[in-house]
Amino acid sequence: MTACIVGWSHGKFGKLDGETSESLIVKAASEAIAHAGIEPKDVDVIYVGNMNGGFVRQEFHSSLALQTHPDLRFKPSTRVENACATGSAAIHMGLNALAAGKARFVLVVGVEKMTELNSTQAGEVLIKASYVAEEANIEAGFAGIFGKITSAYFQRYGDKSDALAKIAVKAHKNGAKNPYAHFQKEFAYEFCRNPSDKNPFVAGPLKRTDCSPVTDGAAAVILTDVQTALGMKQAIAFRAAQHVNDFLPMSKRDIIKFEGPQLAWQRALAEAKLDLLDLSFVESHDCFTSAELIEYEAMGLTAPGEGERAIHEGWVERDGKLPVNVSGGLKAKGHPVGATGVSMHVMSAMQLSGTAPGGLQLPKARIGGVFNMGGAAVANYVSILEPLR
Ligand code: COA
Repeated sequence: MTACIVGWSHGKFGKLDGETSESLIVKAASEAIAHAGIEPKDVDVIYVGNMNGGFVRQEFHSSLALQTHPDLRFKPSTRVENACATGSAAIHMGLNALAAGKARFVLVVGVEKMTELNSTQAGEVLIKASYVAEEANIEAGFAGIFGKITSAYFQRYGDKSDALAKIAVKAHKNGAKNPYAHFQKEFAYEFCRNPSDKNPFVAGPLKRTDCSPVTDGAAAVILTDVQTALGMKQAIAFRAAQHVNDFLPMSKRDIIKFEGPQLAWQRALAEAKLDLLDLSFVESHDCFTSAELIEYEAMGLTAPGEGERAIHEGWVERDGKLPVNVSGGLKAKGHPVGATGVSMHVMSAMQLSGTAPGGLQLPKARIGGVFNMGGAAVANYVSILEPLR
């Protein structure tokens, strides 16, 4: 155990007209600093997780965090980008700064403002996170990539549309309890299962209800070392933090095996000296419902090709043996790409400190797992978190 989350903040996710990435950063940063009970002058290093790539005209985001307070002027701040795992990448950079003795308090902000573009334009930005030389001409943006992965999975293991619809229903049932979520309403199984005008096919077997939405939002954390954290009012420790990158081209991999995510999970569980079922819950990267299905296999919950058992048999429901995406996940909470990894850590910290809002709190949340993924199983981050005391 080397570091802890000692303060956090999470804004409402959704289509946030009137907000800019600057206003979202400033709000998230000031709330996280206040929540930690520190002063802006105490922050030594800042990381801003932001993918951008054309969502907004402003690129260079690092010093936008300095707008939070005059005392942040002259602090070292860096923008971090690792596709949809950008938020976790920024957090892991913060852990490295602490491990190197370069900082006592690190501020990490994850932010994305996506809805200035329509879905088609946003898809054109997101597809830049594929191996452009071979994959970028696919239709429907990044949904096209996962449409292809889902078709390959169905070809090998059979049509799993029932399981995908149930994963969507679970996400929205959980998201309905989350005041920060983009969508806070339940979706019926029949609606998610059957194509309709309101739920058309988007790419391959994926319908609209299988996709995470295009969302604006920000979240932030304050990190510190364990010694310092012992004197703070709340402290959630990293029992493990692992990062595994795989080759970018899908043509170089058996894509439906999710080998990078699998290795990240294996290494994290070994570092934490835990079995998967020792975890009280997992926040997993459900950018598409089929991603969550394959992640059940990658985390070791089921054998390859049997991920559907986890949803059909209720294991991953709120009251199941391993609740997955109690927050509503990317599917219902939304997926502002640069913010998502930070959001997953904040949602977990809230659960583990017993402060999750509304009906979100699990009765027994002792240890939580976070899996955040950039690209098609390319940049893979697993964190295992537990209260310091
Ligand atoms: N799930 C459920 N409902 C959704 C939705 C989603 N993902 N996205 C939009 N909706 C709803 C809207 O709320 C709206 O509902 P209303 O008519 O009741 O107001 C309706 O669908 C139409 O919204 P619109 O934004 O016009 O939909 P769209 O067809 O343009 O976009 C997607 C839908 C799925 C194509 C878009 O959300 C998308 O591209 N998602 C994937 C994003 C992505 O690739 N992220 C990176 C992953 S790695």
